[in-house]
Amino acid sequence: MAQYDVIIIGGGPGGYNAAIRAGQLGLKAACVESGPTLGGTCLNVGCMPSKAMLHASELYEAAGKEFATLGIEVSPKLNLPQMMKQKADSVTALTKGIEFLFKKNKVDWIRGAGKIAGPGKVEVTGDDGKVVTLEAKNIVIATGSVPSGLPGVGVDQKRIVDSTGALSLPEVPKSLIVIGAGIIGLELGSVWRRLGAEVTVVEFLDRITPGMDAETAKTFQRALTKQGMKFKLGAKVTAAKAGKANVKLTVEPVAGGAAETLEADYVLLAIGRKPYTEGLGLESVGITPDKRGFIETDHWKTSAAGVWAIGDVTLGPMLAHKAEEEAVAAIETIAGKAGHVSYGLIPSVVYTAPEVAWVGKTEEELKAEGRAYKAGKFPFAANSRAKINHETEGFVKVLADAATDEILGVHMIGPNVGDMIAEYCVAMEFKAASEDVARTCHPHPTRSEALRQAAMGVEGWTMQA
Ligand code: FAD
Ligand code: NAI
Repeated sequence: MAQYDVIIIGGGPGGYNAAIRAGQLGLKAACVESGPTLGGTCLNVGCMPSKAMLHASELYEAAGKEFATLGIEVSPKLNLPQMMKQKADSVTALTKGIEFLFKKNKVDWIRGAGKIAGPGKVEVTGDDGKVVTLEAKNIVIATGSVPSGLPGVGVDQKRIVDSTGALSLPEVPKSLIVIGAGIIGLELGSVWRRLGAEVTVVEFLDRITPGMDAETAKTFQRALTKQGMKFKLGAKVTAAKAGKANVKLTVEPVAGGAAETLEADYVLLAIGRKPYTEGLGLESVGITPDKRGFIETDHWKTSAAGVWAIGDVTLGPMLAHKAEEEAVAAIETIAGKAGHVSYGLIPSVVYTAPEVAWVGKTEEELKAEGRAYKAGKFPFAANSRAKINHETEGFVKVLADAATDEILGVHMIGPNVGDMIAEYCVAMEFKAASEDVARTCHPHPTRSEALRQAAMGVEGWTMQA
């Protein structure tokens, strides 16, 4: 029977980062993954293919609508099969990259479905039905999440799709209804709108993107509406009927009132994701997931000795970089080091155009906590590089403690903010004051100057607006 220091079940960002870190630290590690490729949701049907489609569709739209302003005359023609192919090629390159890193770090990829079969034991069933039993001192569960369903809305991946189906539609829909104004709905809704679909987003709440700072969310909704996306807020879908060429949805106001029927070529259901532990054998080690199916942990340890859990299957934001942080921390703890995750500093990014990015507390959270804070805000309309690039929509907002000036939250909407938020992640990790950023020299002319100007705004000495 093969013996390991650590067996990781699941080969997504949580699992593969755990496996690689284990290999780096000299632990004998195996990663059990049932899919045909490594990389999990993120690489295969999540972060990476969605960003490939966002990038390509953004350029397509810019070529048609924005290049002329720059003096570039082109008439773009969509080649959807090629757009899909470049997406698939990038994904393949990335998943092969993980295989390479496994070999380099001496990690065994055991292909098949893993099941915990008691303390220190994992049974793996391969595609051919053969079962192999492995033994390990530590088992790390990293089985991730899957899309949540909605009663009455049957996903068939033809007319009614989830995010996986929406990444590979065979044609540009004339019309697309997105159920859920969360990150998936708005990113993938943006992709298909840019490629020519008329997109309507139906959202249960009376706002989009819950969890995002409310002022930022309002600006975001305005920007998406200007681009042509339509919103139906405070509305719930109670039934869906898929025909050969379209879908009919019954939609009711949440506050009560008459139902209406909406019709579209395709429907994307994107109302959140749920943890995945089917067939995992949790009962064999006495682990009971919580009411929503999450595995509860304390410093990545589950209630069972020698069993750890990380990533989407545990509580917290369902983000690849959160899974990656936990992977490293759990393995370092297993190896006798001091694993650490700064849970209050996990950034969020929505990769639309404009992008939205934030880290730390929202204004609403600070108000609810009764914490006195000062705010500094700087519009991209006053940033010279953004002006030159014709990308003036949005702002940077810095929230700092009224007494100590420690930065408590940063909220940005605008060009490239998904990359720029990292500056504030580092600053906040080091417990910087807004003045630290305000007095740090930033290169001119860059959009990053807006980050500094917003920090200067906390003390009221913004200079460029
Ligand atoms: P997963 O990536 O879900 O991996 C779990 C793996 O475990 C899967 O490969 C599964 O096959 C395997 N598995 C499950 N059970 C077993 C078993 N019993 N035996 C063997 N293998 C098993 N996050 C971001 O941070 N940025 C983004 O831009 C982003 N974009 C996204 C876009 C979309 C469309 C979606 C759907 C998600 C996106 N996410 C993004 C979220 C991100 O994909 C997840 O947070 C991340 O993949 C979680 O990693 P994980 O390792 O916990 O789980
Ligand atoms: P989400 O939780 O972001 O948003 C779901 C939305 O659906 C919410 O606005 C919610 O109010 C709404 N909703 C729930 N039930 C509804 C109903 N019955 N009718 C109408 N609306 C309803 O979930 P989403 O968009 O599915 O994404 C899942 C997760 O994937 C995200 O939370 C995020 O963690 C991850 N993700 C991250 C990305 C990124 O980092 N850029 C990109 C895509 C996904």
